Amino acid sequence: MAGRPIVTYGDPVLREVSKPVEEITTEVKDLLADLKAALQKANGLGLSAVQLGVLLRIFIVDLSVVDITAEQKVFINPEIMETAGSSEFEEGCLSFPGIFQRLTRPERVKVKALDENGNEFVMEAEGVAARAILHENDHLEGVLFIDHFSALGRALADRKLKRLTKSV
Ligand code: NI
Repeated sequence: MAGRPIVTYGDPVLREVSKPVEEITTEVKDLLADLKAALQKANGLGLSAVQLGVLLRIFIVDLSVVDITAEQKVFINPEIMETAGSSEFEEGCLSFPGIFQRLTRPERVKVKALDENGNEFVMEAEGVAARAILHENDHLEGVLFIDHFSALGRALADRKLKRLTKSV
């Protein structure tokens, strides 16, 4: 199945909790190909399977938008092992076109996951990479970046959010 569209805010699937991947099947490989294509097309930093409407614990992060040496990285069944520090930075989400807000998140993260061949790896990341991993990992729990907004930030984004919900 090629060219699955990115679902946007208002679609209830974004609030669902994703299930672990049991096996790297052909369907999972097809999904990974669709995730990579969709992320590249959207020029984003990260995308989770739920954003293509598939409730599996998979996301990809691609920092090549901000670092030309970076490569797309696949995370299957990720587990956040440690976080440290704190940083504030502007953040967006491909399921919330046009909405950006400064959010505080940990500065560093240590994450364990499987790669696209099912091999386990542990990765330490900081800055934008850590932020992208934590943002995408939230999606697997049905948590969205607007949940981290302050009351004021939420009020400021409210009109745009209503417009997004109506467009679904
Ligand atoms: Ni997102």
